[in-house]
Amino acid sequence: MRISFVSTGALISFTCFIVESWGQLGTFTAVNALPTLGAATAPSVDRSFVSYSIELSAITGFTSNQFLTNLFNIWASRTGALPALRVGGSGVDKSYYDPTQTVATRSVYGPNITTSYFFGPSFITNIASYFQDIGITFGLNLGDPTANWNNTVQFAVAVYQNLPQLHLFEIGNEPDLYVTNSFRSEPWYGVYYAPQWMQVAKLIVAAISPNVQFQGSVYSGPTNRDFNVRTLIGLGANNTMFKLPVYSEHFYSQSFCSARAATRVNNLINHNIIVSQLQVFPQEISAVNADNSEFIFGEANTVTCGGAPGISDTFGAALWLVDWGLTSASLDVRRVHIHSTLNTDYSMLIPKMYQGLQPGVRPMVYGMYFLAEALALPELGSDTTFMVTPISLSPNLGDISAYGLYSNRVQKPILASLSTTITQSSTTTSSSTQTLSTTVPVTKTSVVTTKINMVTKISTSSVSKSTKTITKTVTSHTVRTSHSVKTIKKTITSRKVSTFTTTGTKNKKKTSWKTSKTVTKITTSTSRSTVTLKTTSTIKSLSVSKSTSTKTIYSTLTKPTTSTSTYTTKITSSSISTSLTSFPVTFTSTTTYTTVLTPTQAPDGNYLARAIVLNLSPYNTSDPTVLNCRSCSQASPLGWGTVKSRLNTTVSLSGFQPFHTLKLLRLQAEGLNAKSGVNVSGLTLSDDDGTVVTPVTAESVIVNAFGVANFSILATEGVLLVDETIL
Ligand SMILES: *[C@@H]1O[C@H](CO)[C@@H](O)[C@H](O)[C@H]1NC(C)=O
Ligand SMILES: *[C@@H]1O[C@H](CO)[C@@H](O)[C@H](O)[C@H]1NC(C)=O
Ligand SMILES: *[C@@H]1O[C@H](CO)[C@@H](O)[C@H](O)[C@H]1NC(C)=O
Ligand SMILES: *[C@@H]1O[C@H](CO)[C@@H](O)[C@H](O)[C@H]1NC(C)=O
Ligand SMILES: *[C@@H]1O[C@H](CO)[C@@H](O)[C@H](O)[C@H]1NC(C)=O
Ligand SMILES: *[C@@H]1O[C@H](CO)[C@@H](O)[C@H](O)[C@H]1NC(C)=O
Ligand SMILES: *[C@@H]1O[C@H](CO)[C@@H](O)[C@H](O)[C@H]1NC(C)=O
Repeated sequence: MRISFVSTGALISFTCFIVESWGQLGTFTAVNALPTLGAATAPSVDRSFVSYSIELSAITGFTSNQFLTNLFNIWASRTGALPALRVGGSGVDKSYYDPTQTVATRSVYGPNITTSYFFGPSFITNIASYFQDIGITFGLNLGDPTANWNNTVQFAVAVYQNLPQLHLFEIGNEPDLYVTNSFRSEPWYGVYYAPQWMQVAKLIVAAISPNVQFQGSVYSGPTNRDFNVRTLIGLGANNTMFKLPVYSEHFYSQSFCSARAATRVNNLINHNIIVSQLQVFPQEISAVNADNSEFIFGEANTVTCGGAPGISDTFGAALWLVDWGLTSASLDVRRVHIHSTLNTDYSMLIPKMYQGLQPGVRPMVYGMYFLAEALALPELGSDTTFMVTPISLSPNLGDISAYGLYSNRVQKPILASLSTTITQSSTTTSSSTQTLSTTVPVTKTSVVTTKINMVTKISTSSVSKSTKTITKTVTSHTVRTSHSVKTIKKTITSRKVSTFTTTGTKNKKKTSWKTSKTVTKITTSTSRSTVTLKTTSTIKSLSVSKSTSTKTIYSTLTKPTTSTSTYTTKITSSSISTSLTSFPVTFTSTTTYTTVLTPTQAPDGNYLARAIVLNLSPYNTSDPTVLNCRSCSQASPLGWGTVKSRLNTTVSLSGFQPFHTLKLLRLQAEGLNAKSGVNVSGLTLSDDDGTVVTPVTAESVIVNAFGVANFSILATEGVLLVDETIL
């Protein structure tokens, strides 16, 4: 039994979340991934990312049949590389080499506990022949300094000579807990441990070769005293003084060594807890990277001290492996070695009948397979690796955890031949210049972020204006007065009578003469005339007839900066009808416009190739047939079925290439507490030997014009989306 504790930081956060308030997620959620990494970088995931850690004393049980080989090969069939193996654990500091021993493994028991293990030469050759092509890290005894670690050095020499796949030596296991585990007494700090480690490492180098490589630290975590990698490196147990390409620390999500009552399956899949527990590692990882070395979790699992039944052996552990594994990978943890023994609840598999347990696979194996599919090579022989980054979500989506995997190959995504038409309608009342707005919900998908050629067809049905010509005839009468002036010559005869008096008689004498004279005569006359005037006037008026005009406007929409952009297409009167310019009248038009989006070739970049979305909303099944598994030590408790129905959430995930078809796989089971019936889209593995019983039946999703893929995900389920054309 190994004894270790979760880090202090982990315990604090764990306490914070201990109050159970579990609401299932709502029915719709949007997740926006970036289509390319752009200038950002993210750690690439090692092809052996999920690897194994097996106790020395358990190795011969695992090598007794092909179970483990079959699981190794299934992983490699997807990712292109076999998992790695760390041979070690708490038994390391009680392990000795006996060159005279014929059996591979011999345990020596004290009155109450196993005191020590002895390994013979066949132990090493057995590992060498079973784990072919597997990179091996081998744990050596630091706990027992007898004879200046003479046996430890002997063991190292024998392993080096007989195990060609040896990659690294570890010296000691969780030395930060040596006082608790009775290997050292106080004072015991990193400053005491480092010189001892260096002393043994130097002995090994001297006995073998300067090329011997080590895996450093092997601490249970970075929060106990000065037991952390930063200090260790400064003390000289580092990659400058030794060949130390990898540092390892251990990770357990919960503790079963002491506070058993505090363990919770719900907390295992709480994303906030996972993120919080991992917070203490980035400073360790930076220190390691600065030493030109890599950081791994060389031993990890759900719950310490063998695991907890009902937690470590449930579907919850499968979801935990995916979420914790991907968060770790995104922090540049290069590998995680899941710890297994022959009889513990946290083992991923039980390879053979042992201490009352039947052989079989546990749910966590399906989590591992799901990750193998996520990291699967895009094509045979590909050298692609995937860079992983968490997709940031709004804080109220605590139950959703999402990751993007980006190809490390800089490429242009292949465009699908499909195209789409989006039809939108609007009715506008406007003056002669009208503005039509179309909201294109463009996501940050590469293709759409470059350029959209938009063809807008406008059909305008409007009350048309006409001009009318009226001819008016006016008849008028005029009375005219005219004056004529005439000059006439007139002869006037004048007479004169003269009277005379002669004898009383009046005598008269008549005398006559003629005179001539000029006179002026004015004549006034009146005349009547008739005049006809023809007047043409133009009267502008609205006619009652309706006219319909169709116009096609070509426009190019350029790069939107936000996730949703409003494009404005201005339609001036001239683009509809010239007569409208003459005078502004208000008209009503119903415009139907169609936007045809044609994707343009995206630029070179690191494109989103896969996405993982986990719905960590806890849901328990009450179906008793899945509450136990063949290799489990006991069934999940009855009566924990979630009363509410299992919520089915629609996720709108953006970031994939428009019109591409994605492969969709589900990591699924009847509930968090299920121990059997777990599968990855129908893929099931044999409890007898770990081979595939039923294959994967993938679903498919077509990405829309805006790079959005819609799919449903149940509470307590994982979804993987794969774009197989991103190489
Ligand atoms: C082992 O058992 C003996 C008595 O049989 C006891 O005195 C001793 O403390 C035990 N050791 C451990 C480590 O429990
Ligand atoms: C271990 O000690 C023995 C003598 O007791 C010695 O012969 C042998 O060389 C030592 N081995 C190493 C690796 O130091
Ligand atoms: C490694 O150890 C040596 C010797 O103590 C020391 O000089 C060096 O600074 C250390 N390297 C780092 C990166 O701290
Ligand atoms: C699910 O069942 C487990 C026991 O198997 C229980 O501890 C847990 O609280 C339950 N979770 C929910 C959400 O009902
Ligand atoms: C979830 O809902 C989708 C439709 O939104 C449906 O196609 C699917 O079958 C549902 N899943 C389950 C398990 O009910
Ligand atoms: C896979 O799991 C789902 C959900 O529990 C279940 O409906 C389905 O029958 C399982 N498929 C197989 C092949 O076991
Ligand atoms: C995806 O779902 C959202 C919300 O239900 C919906 O508005 C959108 O049209 C859907 N997209 C596709 C491509 O089905």
